[in-house]
Amino acid sequence: MATGATLHRPVLLAELLAALDVRSDGTYVDANLGGGGHAEAVLEANAPHGRLLGIDADGGAITRSRARLERFGSRLSTFHGNSRDLAQALADANFTNIDGVYFDLGLSSDQLADRARGFGIRAGGELDLRFDTRSGETAATLLEQASIAELEQIFRTYGEEPNAGKIARAIGAAREQAPVATAEELARLIEQVVPQRQGRPPRIHPATRVFQALRIVINDEMTALRIALTVAISALRVGGRIVVLTYHSLEDRIVKQAFAAAARDCICPPQLPVCACNHRAELRLVNKHPITASEQEIADNPRSRSAKLRAAVRLEHAA
Ligand SMILES: C[S@@+](CC[C@H](N)C(=O)[O-])C[C@H]1O[C@@H](n2cnc3c(N)ncnc32)[C@H](O)[C@@H]1O
Repeated sequence: MATGATLHRPVLLAELLAALDVRSDGTYVDANLGGGGHAEAVLEANAPHGRLLGIDADGGAITRSRARLERFGSRLSTFHGNSRDLAQALADANFTNIDGVYFDLGLSSDQLADRARGFGIRAGGELDLRFDTRSGETAATLLEQASIAELEQIFRTYGEEPNAGKIARAIGAAREQAPVATAEELARLIEQVVPQRQGRPPRIHPATRVFQALRIVINDEMTALRIALTVAISALRVGGRIVVLTYHSLEDRIVKQAFAAAARDCICPPQLPVCACNHRAELRLVNKHPITASEQEIADNPRSRSAKLRAAVRLEHAA
């Protein structure tokens, strides 16, 4: 592939632009730069002087996107790091009172296709699963060191995997002989424990939920999301927008609850007779129900199938 070329196709692109309500010369933050598809459209829409800060934990995504978006010159800034450090990224880029921030969670098609990372069950490769390969433990190390009970809990909590116990025990037995070190080895092991249903093509590979669970834990994705959402909401100017694209129910629940809490005035427990929190709504929801992809988009780009878009507008700061 040429420098800057990406396999990733942005999901719900027109819907994201509409929900962000991109203004000419506005200041925007892309918290998941990836292949730069959404960023390119935002930089076109906020011309001629608007700026965009693109964040990604994956150094390869930053390099590819910088090449793809080179023509926008100094209108683009990038931060190679985790969105949990959004406050730092904003300070480094000197971004305040931003007009919009958006998240496109999870992993990109480039990461799925990269054999060295282990994200793709079919692509194979070392079972790494870190977005940022500069630090932290790999999934292979986790599979080697976590107890069977811990693995079961991870698969159940973050993969909503019904066969969590069976799979954890199978990993425990297998690693007594040799470490489960590659994506293929893990996928094959799970195929043996959870046979694919016969008769009709299965919707997902039986290892999909376990890979999702491991990826979430290795990257501590849920904590990063909670922190980044809080920082993002407070960094918006009044009237600024936050838009989040999620791909599974766990992350969508976090976004839904964070937006709902920020869109409420009092957040005291219901048993309190009078308000003691003095909390004032910071957000107004743009769409009550999440926006999903059209049948046409799902046919053209199957990864859009599970996408949900939620958007909200920043209200006047409470006194
Ligand atoms: C779905 S892709 C984004 C695709 C992008 N919107 C596009 O149009 O090409 C998600 C990206 O977010 C990055 N990512 C995921 N979690 C992150 C986090 N907590 N902090 C920073 N980057 C993260 C991944 O490395 C990946 O490149």
